[in-house]
Amino acid sequence: MAHVWLIGMMGSGKSTVGRLVAGHLDRPFYDTDATVEATAGMTIMEIFERFGEDGFRERERTAVAEITDDAAGVVATGGGAILDPVNVETMRNAGTVVLLSVEPDVLIARVADNEDRPLLLDGIERAIRSIDRARSGLYRSSADVVVDASHPIETVAEEVEAICNAL
Ligand code: S3P
Repeated sequence: MAHVWLIGMMGSGKSTVGRLVAGHLDRPFYDTDATVEATAGMTIMEIFERFGEDGFRERERTAVAEITDDAAGVVATGGGAILDPVNVETMRNAGTVVLLSVEPDVLIARVADNEDRPLLLDGIERAIRSIDRARSGLYRSSADVVVDASHPIETVAEEVEAICNAL
């Protein structure tokens, strides 16, 4: 199995599902946000404050590229990783890209207590709806497989696991 890259909106469950699936398959779990934070020694909120979104995206691109060299596993990506075509190409060349697709209403409920996502600081509902509108085509065109991830997280994990086992 090469890497399985989970993409999707903030709140789509990438990290929780990824960790569960990797655990069940006894594979490494990677998280681009966690890699960026560990490398920078700063939270994502601090990186956005000090270096802006561009500074964060640059670090995110480095994290995606570095993870391709690691042992095959399940990777949770930050919601905006697909904005950079280089990342999409890197991910597709290094495994299978799985979109966790979730309706905006469900996302809004899931991220309601957000404190660590800079893009949601000015109003969660408006931000989620506008980001979803702007990115939904890109998410679909970047994905090899689309999973309806509005279901409970364990059900979604089972589906992703089945995809991994079929690869
Ligand atoms: C972002 C999503 C976040 C994080 C950053 C930007 C985005 O990750 O990378 O706040 O642009 O959608 P999650 O999708 O894990 O929340």
